[in-house]
Amino acid sequence: MDKFTNQLKIAFASQYAFAIKAQNYHWNVEGIDFYQKHKMFQKIYEETYGAVDDFAENIRKIKAYTPASLYRFSALAAIDDEVEILEPQAMVAELLSDAEKMQEIMKHLFVEAEALGHHGLSNFLADRQDAFAKHAWFLRSTLKA
Ligand SMILES: [Fe+2]
Repeated sequence: MDKFTNQLKIAFASQYAFAIKAQNYHWNVEGIDFYQKHKMFQKIYEETYGAVDDFAENIRKIKAYTPASLYRFSALAAIDDEVEILEPQAMVAELLSDAEKMQEIMKHLFVEAEALGHHGLSNFLADRQDAFAKHAWFLRSTLKA
């Protein structure tokens, strides 16, 4: 498998891991502003899951197979799994760091996709970068004291 295809699979698995983490926080967040954070994490995981199918199909369009099992997601993802129950602001800080990481992954892949002439795919990656920039904005603003 070429390097670009492998990186695309890593980005796809990472996005899945990011969505699961946002949903984890949606379920498990507590505290005085529970409802606000519960809703914010929901908006983030809904948007992210909403892009999963298009992402998977974009991998198929470049003639590769899409990773599609928990084992493969776990092996490929660049986003760490969350197994602890964090304090509410720590959840926000952790997901912010992940959203910024996802932006960087998409930015890097966009350049590679353009160089290979995959313009439809690069458009999609630009949209994903922008979506993670918006998630990062919401999370960053929530962290401000
Ligand atoms: Fe829910």
